[in-house]
Amino acid sequence: MLQNYRTAMVIGAQWGDEGKGKIIDYLTPEVDYVARFQGGNNAGHTLVVDGEVHKLHLLPSGVLYKDKRIVIGNGLVIDPEVLISEIDNFETKGIKLNMLISERAHIIFPFHIIMDGMIDEYKGKLAAGTTRRGIGPAYADKAERSGIRVIDLMNKKVFEEKFDQLFELKKNTLRKLYKQNIRLNKKEIFEQYWNFGKRMKPYVGDVSLELNEAIADGKKVLFEGAQGTMLDNDHGAYPHTTSSNTIAGAACTGLGIGPDKIDAVIGVVKAYLSRVGTGPVPTEVKGKLGNYLRERGQEYGTTTGRPRRCGWVDLVQLRYACRINGLTSMAVTKIDILGGLKKIPIATHYKYKGSVIKELPADLNVQRLCKPVYKELAGWKDLNEADFKKIIDKGYKALPSRMKLYLKFISDQTNTPISLVSVGAERKLTIEVNG
Ligand code: GDP
Ligand code: IMO
Ligand code: MG
Repeated sequence: MLQNYRTAMVIGAQWGDEGKGKIIDYLTPEVDYVARFQGGNNAGHTLVVDGEVHKLHLLPSGVLYKDKRIVIGNGLVIDPEVLISEIDNFETKGIKLNMLISERAHIIFPFHIIMDGMIDEYKGKLAAGTTRRGIGPAYADKAERSGIRVIDLMNKKVFEEKFDQLFELKKNTLRKLYKQNIRLNKKEIFEQYWNFGKRMKPYVGDVSLELNEAIADGKKVLFEGAQGTMLDNDHGAYPHTTSSNTIAGAACTGLGIGPDKIDAVIGVVKAYLSRVGTGPVPTEVKGKLGNYLRERGQEYGTTTGRPRRCGWVDLVQLRYACRINGLTSMAVTKIDILGGLKKIPIATHYKYKGSVIKELPADLNVQRLCKPVYKELAGWKDLNEADFKKIIDKGYKALPSRMKLYLKFISDQTNTPISLVSVGAERKLTIEVNG
């Protein structure tokens, strides 16, 4: 599928958990590198191969292929304890990771995690319902220029100088501003993180340099996004977003590559919709039908285990995602979950106080009060894995005609082709539209 490209990107087109991990794992055989460019261990990417489930939070989703190089870009915030436990998880099975970690990525410390929970709780209705992984506070320190980067853990003198200042700042902020006397042992954290640095050192290097040289040498790169378009800190449902840019443009800043190096942008779209965390989701369905989608789709957070809120595809949101990311195609996932439904609603536009809304509103109040207007499409019969395996042998044309009409409607309404359809969690349960 990627034969005509030097590089391609896979990003979430909705609210995250669209199945990015699965699509990246499927496409990895075609590339030499898989490079993540933003987020942290708020992400949970699931790969299923021959019944074995792999849940990844920081390691790029190309990790199951030993001959591929995986890259963690400067745009990430890294909790080294989580990263090392993911590395250990593979290395204890005798798998040596072929991995490069950017020296410029930022580090999450225990005080970031404490502050994350406290700030989110304080915000009440304006909270995002964060994953409590310290993501927001670590990115805030990066923006404020007091963050500590991976390279700082490689130089004791610099680490001491920066850590001393950051620790005192956080201790005093917690004590004086938040009135929290949380006991954090400065020396212990310093030693622990110095040791984390030693563990990470063999993997650390200049990501921008290596990727640009690789592309110039004709190597292929897949850029891996985390979260989704509506969680982007600029273009998403602010303030109910994450703290990084999650859209396609973030690959440039998060890896140090120019926009001229991006040949294709594949947006992953769940055939319905899910959202974990708080904030308005116009097409959310509650009650029996919402529970049906959640149970059938097993919509529980990969990172936090929280139940995901489910709903219908929202074309206002999806057209916006196509535009903001410049999607060259879409990969539609979990279409198997919709099998057996008589009618499947898709929101074509919103209504707000009697007026028609076709573009995603920035105003929080409009987001809260707009009502989706649906078109109902005909469903198709339920198919099991054996049915899908037979269809896969024959290719896209063998899919039920009403399923193809559903996909065509999404593609026509967004003016964006569909390149992949995923019909199960397993790597093999994937159909290339032109394949
Ligand atoms: P990500 O964060 O975008 O990588 O998505 P997650 O891994 O958090 O959530 C997607 C879930 O759906 C995972 O449990 C996947 O194994 C599963 N999945 C992915 N594609 C499909 C599919 O086409 N059908 C079904 N039934 N499950 C899928
Ligand atoms: P993947 O990569 C779904 C949501 C959280 C919360 C908001 C901010 O698996 O698709 P944060 O901890 O980032 O400060 O939380 O963003 N969120 C995700 N939702 N999938 C994710 O990642 C998410 N990462 C963060 O639930 O609403
Ligand atoms: Mg996920």
